[in-house]
Amino acid sequence: EAYKQEMAAYEASTAEAVEAFRIKYLGTKGLVKEVMGEMKNVPNEQKKAFGLVLNEFKQFAETRYETLKSLGAQEDHAHGNQIDWSLPGDPVAIGSRHPLSLVRNQIVSIFKRLGFAVAEGPEIEDDWHNFGAMNLPEDHPARDMQDTFYISRNPDWLLRTHTSSVQARVMEKQKPPIRVICPGRVYRNETVSARAHCFFHQVEGLYIDENVSFADLKQTLYFFVQEMFGKDVKVRFRPSYFPFTEPSAEMDISCLICGGDGCNICKHTGWVEILGSGMVHPKVLENFGIDPNKYTGFAFGMGVERITQLKYQVNDLRLYSQNDLRFLKQFTGAI
Ligand code: PHE
Repeated sequence: EAYKQEMAAYEASTAEAVEAFRIKYLGTKGLVKEVMGEMKNVPNEQKKAFGLVLNEFKQFAETRYETLKSLGAQEDHAHGNQIDWSLPGDPVAIGSRHPLSLVRNQIVSIFKRLGFAVAEGPEIEDDWHNFGAMNLPEDHPARDMQDTFYISRNPDWLLRTHTSSVQARVMEKQKPPIRVICPGRVYRNETVSARAHCFFHQVEGLYIDENVSFADLKQTLYFFVQEMFGKDVKVRFRPSYFPFTEPSAEMDISCLICGGDGCNICKHTGWVEILGSGMVHPKVLENFGIDPNKYTGFAFGMGVERITQLKYQVNDLRLYSQNDLRFLKQFTGAI
């Protein structure tokens, strides 16, 4: 009874005082626990009666604690310590899209408007999809054009060197007409510098149908460049070599950085190479059971880093993967 009076008289005007009450009476080393511990010393025939008194005591303490808590809250309220719902919230820092994602999305959306579907595939590939099917048999010298990372556990596995491997996977499953673009990350064993990296991103495209011609290839890529860089940009095709296309061509655009006056990007030529392309080699079609006498097609492949460099004047490839906020924040708000 004395303890009850003590508790009833306990005043707590602050949250700390309420907490002190809890610790003193209801805590693990508090009075209620201590008195409960006495139970073992009580003779058996009195245990029941003692238990009832104890329970009542415990409930009294708990009720008093709840009362003090709510009184404390009212007190807080009276002193204006309540939550101010009108306060503006803490600002949430919103990130921005990576420039490579921005440009990849733009490329994809231009080709989507021309009816191209998006196809994706694995970054760890087997030799067949990356090389063999693309008309690069094992001892083909053109394999040296793309320094390859092999997976040591299995010499048949490698990190894809181009997303042509995805085109191979599409032709494996789908019959013409085929009209796909394949965006994705690719890997090459090169020393990292301002101008080269051991991974980069590509968008490759493939169009196979009856009567697809080199004129279709040129017109499609010309349309792409104008949508991407504007109507004034000039384009030129140069003959080139890829094992999977014949004939092959590389496409240059007039240098957007110096406008033709001469800079490091265009090596003072006024032109920058942006993609490789060509008519799909009949051997490649045959590899997938597509009749080269009935169907023809064109393919192309471009590096997203290069296009981004021209679009946003990025002068060092390493910036793309260093996660320096001073660089990334410049793209805030761009979609
Ligand atoms: N696969 C080539 C590369 O990665 C690009 C390319 C694709 C060229 C399609 C021609 C046709 O370099």
